[in-house]
Amino acid sequence: MAGGERVGRTVEVKLGARSYPVRIACGLLDRVGELLVEIAPCRRAVIITDDNVRALYAARLASSLAQAQIDSLVISVPPGESSKSLETLAHLYDEFARLHVRRDELVLALGGGVIGDLAGFAAATWLRGVRFVQVPTTVLSQVDSSVGGKVGINHPSGKNLIGSFYQPLLVVIDPDTLRTLPSAEVWSGLAEVIKYGFIADRSLYERVATDIRALAAEPGSSLWEEILARCCEIKATIVQSDERDLGLRHILNFGHTLGHALEAATGYNRLRHGEAVARGMVAALWLSHWLRAFPEEELEASLQVLEQFPRPELDDLVAREIVPHVAHDKKGTSAGQKWVLLDRIGSATVIQDPPAELVVQAAEKMLR
Ligand SMILES: NC(=O)c1ccc[n+]([C@@H]2O[C@H](COP(=O)([O-])OP(=O)(O)OC[C@H]3O[C@@H](n4cnc5c(N)ncnc54)[C@H](O)[C@@H]3O)[C@@H](O)[C@H]2O)c1
Ligand SMILES: [Zn+2]
Repeated sequence: MAGGERVGRTVEVKLGARSYPVRIACGLLDRVGELLVEIAPCRRAVIITDDNVRALYAARLASSLAQAQIDSLVISVPPGESSKSLETLAHLYDEFARLHVRRDELVLALGGGVIGDLAGFAAATWLRGVRFVQVPTTVLSQVDSSVGGKVGINHPSGKNLIGSFYQPLLVVIDPDTLRTLPSAEVWSGLAEVIKYGFIADRSLYERVATDIRALAAEPGSSLWEEILARCCEIKATIVQSDERDLGLRHILNFGHTLGHALEAATGYNRLRHGEAVARGMVAALWLSHWLRAFPEEELEASLQVLEQFPRPELDDLVAREIVPHVAHDKKGTSAGQKWVLLDRIGSATVIQDPPAELVVQAAEKMLR
């Protein structure tokens, strides 16, 4: 590919002085250096990744930077949620100190949401802010966590309790990287993809629902490029109107209220996040039907799609024991919990605390 020529799709996240492009195209991993010259020129970049992604993609990223005369260093951490910790963050600060990372250099997050959140928080806080670029490599991070600027780590008492808003300068999405992603991770990300259809775009929902098995079987195909771009566009629109999560951004939590409760009730080790969200969306669809007259035929069709998502056995769980975890959700306020429901596919609405008995019934549907 010749330098400078435009390929793929670009979604602009318009946040005034904090605006940035999300570039999406197959093969873009080999052109990150070129994009940085345009958007964030620098002499040296620190690539933060995990051990799985390092083995697959760090050398290609480094060589793309080298072609643009950018030196790079790689810091790799163990894969998995446990790396979103104070210990791993301290390790990154130690490495930044040892490498004398300066403000005019660049932190590049190469990996899934764990790496984006961790590296982003390290970048936000080192020297009060080092420039930051996201190169997400999971479905979840390509459609959700890399766009919008939420960065942070977990505290032993809860997920994502320590963090800030820190927008990247650029997000580079190469759908080809999804080809190496384990199938369970692809399905988990697809739950967030179809969520965007449910809350904001009926035609996206229909495209994903129709082709869900093909999408899961062939990550990185050209259909993926289009779908990833549409998801980023929806997320960008929502973030633009509510950067700091005070209002509209809440609709991104469709399926997450009982989904989070299910994750918490099972100790965060039985379901992937997207698997829990898929079940949480089942509950939210039933509540939508009961409380918002969400049409029966849409309910049936949507449930059929969600039943195709893989899920572990949940038969031993009891709805009444899961529901109390809702009250502990970080998104709650002293006034109670907001729930995202649907009036129709593509049209979300937020309600305050549905009747407790209906929540239990919805949780029963979710476990079945
Ligand atoms: N900041 C936000 O707005 C936001 C939004 C949603 C989720 N999150 C966070 O995102 C995290 C989850 O992210 P995730 O689902 O991407 O998980 P992850 O980062 O743990 O990645 C999942 C697994 O896939 C591996 N992997 C990554 N890319 C790969 C590739 N291309 N090929 C093969 N293997 C690959 C990783 O090593 C890891 O084992 C959670 O911590 C969650 O809190 C943040
Ligand atoms: Zn989610």
